[in-house]
Amino acid sequence: MFKLRANKSLSLNGEIKVPGDKSISHRSIILGSLAVGETLVNGLLESEDVLHTVQAMEKFGAIIEKIEEQKWSIHGRGVGGLDEPEAPLYLGNSGTGVRLLMGVAASHPFNTFFFGDKSLSKRPMRRVSTPLKMMGADFISRAEGSLPLVCIGPRHILPIQYELPVASAQVKSAILIAALGAAGETTIIEPEPTRDHTELMLQQFGAEISTNTVKQSGREVTITGQPELRAQNINVPSDPSSAAFPTVAALISPNSFITIKNVCANPLRFGLFEILLKMGANIDIVFHEQANPEKIADITIQSSRLQGIEICSEIAPRMIDEYPILAVAAAFAEGTTTMQGLKELRVKESDRLSAIADGLTLCGIKVEETIDSLTVYGTGGSVKGGALIETNMDHRIAMAFLVLGIASEQPVEIDDATTIETSFPHFCELMSSVGAKLTKTAGPREVTPL
Ligand code: S3P
Repeated sequence: MFKLRANKSLSLNGEIKVPGDKSISHRSIILGSLAVGETLVNGLLESEDVLHTVQAMEKFGAIIEKIEEQKWSIHGRGVGGLDEPEAPLYLGNSGTGVRLLMGVAASHPFNTFFFGDKSLSKRPMRRVSTPLKMMGADFISRAEGSLPLVCIGPRHILPIQYELPVASAQVKSAILIAALGAAGETTIIEPEPTRDHTELMLQQFGAEISTNTVKQSGREVTITGQPELRAQNINVPSDPSSAAFPTVAALISPNSFITIKNVCANPLRFGLFEILLKMGANIDIVFHEQANPEKIADITIQSSRLQGIEICSEIAPRMIDEYPILAVAAAFAEGTTTMQGLKELRVKESDRLSAIADGLTLCGIKVEETIDSLTVYGTGGSVKGGALIETNMDHRIAMAFLVLGIASEQPVEIDDATTIETSFPHFCELMSSVGAKLTKTAGPREVTPL
């Protein structure tokens, strides 16, 4: 555990590439392990969260090897062909990892034990175990339904029709993955469309899967079970949720001009960029012509005068991980920004809604927090900073407040930078390469300038 301090930086300039997309990386390891043959993954995010999924799939019997930097090979076992893990699966901080793997475990007739770190052990798992129980699996967990838990897989997993009570790509994906083992069609109805990487990748691997719009804004996904998934070559584009940090850093630092290459531009992940454009951000998005199945873009960002806006709840699933950094942008904008529909933020790696509100308040920003909304009173550019932020094992809180400190009057320090490793290895080096002033500190005395 070490502290990091962000000091006011002059301007950010350069061309960078952020690491591979976390959601796509998890899915490529899992679906590669369920396919027949050798899947090659290029651009894998080698972060703690994804490496926990790699280790878990190895315990299920897949052969996974790193060939070179970010290039991995997976020899899959075929749908329904995994072995019972001999040891409990540790998923660290990763909600995506554990929830998707609960779907994997549920479709195999054996027992799988899961545990995670302190943050993951507080997160709700009933949203996944409830539909998986309807499919025939059973779970033993702590009273709250949280980790540690054991999944007891049925002899035959059953197809279901299920309407998601919350818009969650993790829950949808867990059901889709479990449904691979079920004879017949499984249909999931989501209240709002959530990221569709699992659907796109399942299609790429040869599964029969279709989507339809229902009830105005909802979506229905139907998969036919027991396909033979065939090994694929997968190119993982850069993570838009990671690109969000240098993007906002450049917007709020004067005289900045940066380009971020090869970013996953799936429309269901692009809400932040839509909102920043509406706030007046000078962002240029150039889409790659041949990008399949995921859209890819190069994004150029220049310092901008941002205007506060009202953000309705419908967009929340398309930018669910970006609220911490959006709130930082809002603090530097002119006028008020109101964000609605944020209840899900309370059950992320930390209670993100409170973490954002408390952190901004410590940095001198006026905010109003309700159970599911946040109002940020923008300063028009002059943010005090000068705070020590508790990250509570939440990587996005850590990075968002470091970005704030790059442009605030006084430095901002975070109490634990190790959490950044879960999603964005080399964050400090990358941000420093474009001119951000980040300093590693140990307690009150500085030790290593980066
Ligand atoms: C993810 C889905 C989102 C997101 C998480 C990654 C995924 O969670 O917050 O970081 O890869 O499916 P929910 O599906 O719970 O909203």
